[in-house]
Amino acid sequence: MAAARVAILTVSDTASLDSSADRSGPAIQGLLTQSGYICMHLQIVPDDETRIRSVVLAWCDQGDIDWIVTTGGTGFGVRDRTPEASTEAIQPLLDREAAGIVHLLLSASLKATPLAALSRPVAGTIKNTLITTLPGSVKAVTENINALLQAGVVNHAIELIR
Ligand code: MTE
Repeated sequence: MAAARVAILTVSDTASLDSSADRSGPAIQGLLTQSGYICMHLQIVPDDETRIRSVVLAWCDQGDIDWIVTTGGTGFGVRDRTPEASTEAIQPLLDREAAGIVHLLLSASLKATPLAALSRPVAGTIKNTLITTLPGSVKAVTENINALLQAGVVNHAIELIR
C-alpha cells in the first residue's frame, strides 16, 4: 500500500492561543511519521464545535487524506465537545460509525489506566477518510496510537476505504 496520509487536529483552547502548549499533536506526528505515515496537516483549533467541524469537513473534501486523528476534548470537562452527537462536532458527520475501533481504543486504554473510562471516543468514516478522536495527553495518545498501529487495524481500514 502507498504510504497513508494523515491530518492531525489538536482541539484545545490553551494550545489555540499558544501553539507551544500543544504536545499531543506533535507526539502523534512523531509516532506516525516513524511508522511511515505522511503527515499532511497539523492544526490547532479551540474547543469550539463549529471550528472542529469546518476543519474536518475541509480535510475530507480534499480527497487525499486517509486518516484524521484528533486529540483533546473527549472527556467530561464542560468545554470537551469534540465527539458530540448532540451538537455540530464529529459524531454527526460520520457516514459509518466504527464501534470496533472505539472498543479497541477503550480496551487497550483501560489496560493502562481506569481513567480511560472518562474518554468518549468516536471513530468512523467520512467519505474516503477514517477519523478517530483521541484524548489530549501525550501519554494517552501514545497508548492509543500504539493500539491502533500494533493491531494493524488502521492500515487495513485505509486499504478498504481508498
Ligand atoms: N487513555 C489512555 N490510554 N491513557 C490515559 O492516560 N487519560 C484519561 C482518558 N483516556 C488516559 C486515557 C483521562 S485522565 C481523561 S480526562 C480522558 O482521557 C479525556 O481526555 P481529554 O478530555 O483530554 O480528551
